[in-house]
Amino acid sequence: MRIDIITVQPGLLESPFSHSILKRAQTKGLLEVHTHNLRDYSMLKHNQVDDYQFGGGAGMVMMLEPVVNAIESLQAKVKYDEVIYLTPDGETLNQRIANQLSLKGNLLLLCGHYKGIDERIRIHFVTKEISIGDYVLSGGELAAAVLVDAIGRLIPGVLNDETSALLDSFQDNLLAPPVYTRPEEFRGWRVPDVLLSGDHKKIDNWRHDQALERTKERRPDLL
Ligand code: ADE
Repeated sequence: MRIDIITVQPGLLESPFSHSILKRAQTKGLLEVHTHNLRDYSMLKHNQVDDYQFGGGAGMVMMLEPVVNAIESLQAKVKYDEVIYLTPDGETLNQRIANQLSLKGNLLLLCGHYKGIDERIRIHFVTKEISIGDYVLSGGELAAAVLVDAIGRLIPGVLNDETSALLDSFQDNLLAPPVYTRPEEFRGWRVPDVLLSGDHKKIDNWRHDQALERTKERRPDLL
């Protein structure tokens, strides 16, 4: 999969993809992430990319031309399955959306800043709008990083044990069950006996019951 990200703050996206699972995905050739500085696509003095909004009001708006320029020059080289705008008024990201997007070939992400982008870009270029939650970030970059992480780990072959993504919280609308590791006992707090039993059928049943219990308690809306 190839993901291109258009941003006015490319520095914010340097680190999230250079570690851990997303780094491995790129090393294995399963994921390519390219960031593009929007200012490089401005024709204006000082590489201006924002301007006052028509009708007045506080806050700048990301201008049409640099964004269109950036999108169209990338589209001339790559055929994108989706052009995604990260915005608090988009569809809230969930595991189902991450699953769907992980099956795509090429994605173009657009990070908003200031008061947002000129509405005509949303109308004529953007095919999907995603929010990562009901709160406002200073820009779309961290949201883009969250989205790339959620998608990237689902690409087949990225996780060592492919079943582990399938057992994540939310994959079957259940939260994940509790997990334990060594030691078996600490300050008298014991690991549940069933996990030490070696009986895999029993362990699977226990995990399912625990996941169900946890979901009922914490996120009944998922059931
Ligand atoms: N940009 C600012 N806030 C955001 C959010 N919650 N989700 C996606 N993009 C954003």
